[in-house]
Amino acid sequence: MLVIRAKNYEELSRKAAKYIANQVELKPNSVLGLATGSTPVGTYKELIRYCQEEGLSFRKIRTVNLDEYYGLRPDHEQSYRHFMDHNLFDHIDILKENTHVPDGLTQDPCAFGEAYDEMISVLGGIDLQLLGIGSNGHIAFNEPNQHFVAPTHLVKLSQNTLEDNARFFDSIDEVPPQAITMGMRSIMRAKRILILASGVNKAEAVKGMLEGEIDPMLPASILQLHPDVVLIADNEALSLCTPE
Ligand code: GLP
Repeated sequence: MLVIRAKNYEELSRKAAKYIANQVELKPNSVLGLATGSTPVGTYKELIRYCQEEGLSFRKIRTVNLDEYYGLRPDHEQSYRHFMDHNLFDHIDILKENTHVPDGLTQDPCAFGEAYDEMISVLGGIDLQLLGIGSNGHIAFNEPNQHFVAPTHLVKLSQNTLEDNARFFDSIDEVPPQAITMGMRSIMRAKRILILASGVNKAEAVKGMLEGEIDPMLPASILQLHPDVVLIADNEALSLCTPE
């Protein structure tokens, strides 16, 4: 894994956006795997700037998102569909029909998961997958578990994640207890992966991901097995790592 250090969140966002913009420029019909959470917001802002001020076009780009809260309607303020529209898609020249977010209202998560993974294959697979990391080491909503789960699936969120994400809701009781998440198969099949980590509350997870054993109890550690992963992290997120 290539580690790129940024001095702070702003620099991290600039570097990440440049990385993604290069992908879009070099392969204008790329399939981008996209993430939600507070970490990529600055990156998306910068991508909007690239599009609006520097002529970077997303016209032929296709996107697949990692996850969605189970039971939230797409127009719910905290749905990940709403997040993506609001933080990126509404401000760039992407065609909405080329953007895909898991269906949080599906009645049959199992069949939906199969269909979502199949759709990703039909698109040609993910060219560049953007990831954040949870403070417990989750990627997408793949929570610490006894084993890695391969397909897109319904997952019960851990107490730790409910607490972390409660900040976006009026109270922790309003955080949906389940989510539909891309599994490890589609993530690990991505040709390239870019993972972002910012802040001291990610330091332990980042250390485990980089220096620990590959362990489903720290889901991001699976990335050690991928041949093309770039981590862009700020000083705080890297603060527990052994200096090179
Ligand atoms: C969320 C998302 C993840 C994200 C992570 C970290 O719950 N499902 O895709 O990477 O948790 O979020 P944040 O960037 O807000 O710390």
